[in-house]
Amino acid sequence: MGIVVYGSEIAKKIKLEMIEKVKNLKDNGKRLPKLVVVLVGENPASISYVKGKEKACTEIGMENELIKLPETISQEELLEVVKTLNKDDEVDGILVQLPLPKQIDEHAILHAIDPSKDVDGFHPHSLGKLMLQEETFISCTPKGIIRILEEIGMKDLSGKHAVVIGRSNIVGRPLVQLLINHNATVTVCHSKTENIESIASQADILIVSVGKPRLVNHNWVKDGAVVIDVGINRDENNKLCGDVDFDDVVDKVSYITPVPKGVGPMTITMLLENTIHSYNIRENK
Ligand code: GUN
Repeated sequence: MGIVVYGSEIAKKIKLEMIEKVKNLKDNGKRLPKLVVVLVGENPASISYVKGKEKACTEIGMENELIKLPETISQEELLEVVKTLNKDDEVDGILVQLPLPKQIDEHAILHAIDPSKDVDGFHPHSLGKLMLQEETFISCTPKGIIRILEEIGMKDLSGKHAVVIGRSNIVGRPLVQLLINHNATVTVCHSKTENIESIASQADILIVSVGKPRLVNHNWVKDGAVVIDVGINRDENNKLCGDVDFDDVVDKVSYITPVPKGVGPMTITMLLENTIHSYNIRENK
């Protein structure tokens, strides 16, 4: 049976270090790092994600603010909110929760965030720098996945074949860049890929981010592969599950992340880390 890698445990360790850092700042009477999350509308998944972010900020003692805006807000009004946050010297990180309502051009909003506060790593400035291997904010889920791989001793991925299923702007695309930067040989599969199962089964590292409950079964997985499950879905019985059929593949893998308690807690922790990084740059200028 494969080893189950709990991102929640890795996240706990990282958060303990952050608690110390923030406490030190507080004890020395310094300004504390601050994250502002902007939530538009009432999407239940977004509300749940945002709550997780608030809870994590509070746990480590970081300042945080949630700005709740109505579903009907105009693009201009939302841009004004972002511009105000850009100018606020107390704010280190700005996160506009996605998806946004139809009347708003998501790109226009992400482009408007000051790249020095882009703790989500979604601004073209951040993504371009990632591609060029320059220091920048790295999107939280891909960054968390790389941390999980490092934790199981996979720091240098030379000679490893990583297969990424999913090509989203949030996970798949930045993840491909990161994996290449760590010397992996990378194949990307998506909804238009043919023979996806046969490609997946050649992976030393299989990373799945498609949002389809238990899509990946033992036929997709090579013996001894490392499987990272990014999906957070509800199955037909409303039970939380990943994109991987955990019970069906666990005997075949060397390592596997569960859902919940796998990648999700790492994503939030990387957001906190990015916010502290932004704070450090801002304060040491
Ligand atoms: N929606 C789902 N995941 C994310 C995320 O990591 N950041 C933002 N801004 N929106 C999301």
